[in-house]
Amino acid sequence: MKAFIVDRYGKKRALRLADMPTPELRDDEVLVEVHAAGVNLLDAKIRDGEFKLILPYRLPLILGHDVAGVVVKAGPRVRQFKPGDEVYARPDDFRIGTFAEFVPVKETSLALKPRNLTMEEAASIPLVGLTAWQALIAKANLKKGQRVFVQAGSGGVGTFAIQLARHLGATVATTTSTTNVALVKSLGADVVIDYRTQDFEDVLRDYDVVLNSQDGKTLEKSLRVLKRGGKLISISGPPDPEFGREIAASGFVQLVMRLLSSGVRRKAQGLGIGYSFLFMKANGGQLREITRLIEAGAIRPVIDRVFPFESTHEALAYVESGRAKGKVVVKIR
Ligand SMILES: NC(=O)c1ccc[n+]([C@@H]2O[C@H](COP(=O)([O-])OP(=O)(O)OC[C@H]3O[C@@H](n4cnc5c(N)ncnc54)[C@H](OP(=O)(O)O)[C@@H]3O)[C@@H](O)[C@H]2O)c1
Repeated sequence: MKAFIVDRYGKKRALRLADMPTPELRDDEVLVEVHAAGVNLLDAKIRDGEFKLILPYRLPLILGHDVAGVVVKAGPRVRQFKPGDEVYARPDDFRIGTFAEFVPVKETSLALKPRNLTMEEAASIPLVGLTAWQALIAKANLKKGQRVFVQAGSGGVGTFAIQLARHLGATVATTTSTTNVALVKSLGADVVIDYRTQDFEDVLRDYDVVLNSQDGKTLEKSLRVLKRGGKLISISGPPDPEFGREIAASGFVQLVMRLLSSGVRRKAQGLGIGYSFLFMKANGGQLREITRLIEAGAIRPVIDRVFPFESTHEALAYVESGRAKGKVVVKIR
């Protein structure tokens, strides 16, 4: 099958289109014929070698973390899916590879595609949708009437997180640049801060939750807009010791994580704020809940551009530009 692969780690190295064997199907997996694949910054970071410690992949590696497609084969232990089902997923770590014609996905990581979405729209959802879900619901336990600050509201995670937070009944503040103010308002943001002309620290006070996706300076400032008892959840680092334990990292890697996050953890503790790092995980159950919200019209996909399969490298470069409005998708079939 045709696939875009990384055969050597390297910053901005072009992915290579190669002929690869179709991965072997395990008993608890289905083989998905890929129709569309979402593109994520995680793909670029893995290609650059930034995740070698956390995700020690063997090369060559087929990249791609989001898929929408059709089940063509089911392993003997699969119960809920059959050939012909239209599905979508964020495959598990170490089983990624959606920039390809076929990808095996564990049954427990898969969900039926929302009926009201095209394949391209569905492929834009899993990774960012699950990230928002795991941050706002699983970690923050965000409730009606609470106030949440979602950074970068016009990005892949932001466009989903604003809608999810609004659905939960929270008041949502977000940052974006002037050209995207109308977009984030249309998604339900109540307070919009143009980060090119305003500082969010001057506007927001006593928030319950911050979803941090930016740099260390922004992380530090975020502490000051939270109230005592508030929660700072970061998806852009630094990783905390709990995450190290979750992924069963080596003693050395756990020590590195402890050191990297010691500053923010200490400051958060001093202010009575909970700090946690999130690295999202595949989860078919949560994805089914997301399907329900999309079919009910509570959340809609936001797609910036769809690239043809041959242009996967260009799609990744576009995501890396940091200017995407919502998601970037590659159409494979
Ligand atoms: N830990 C995890 O599980 C996890 C999961 C998903 C993503 N992430 C990470 O989270 C980050 C965001 O991911 P993403 O997919 O949402 O990114 P993205 O879609 O590529 O973000 C692009 C958007 O960011 C906005 N932006 C850029 N600089 C900004 C700033 N200083 N303030 C506010 N908005 C800004 C841009 O808007 P303008 O053009 O208006 O500037 C653009 O719309 C990345 O670092 C990604 O790797 C982590």
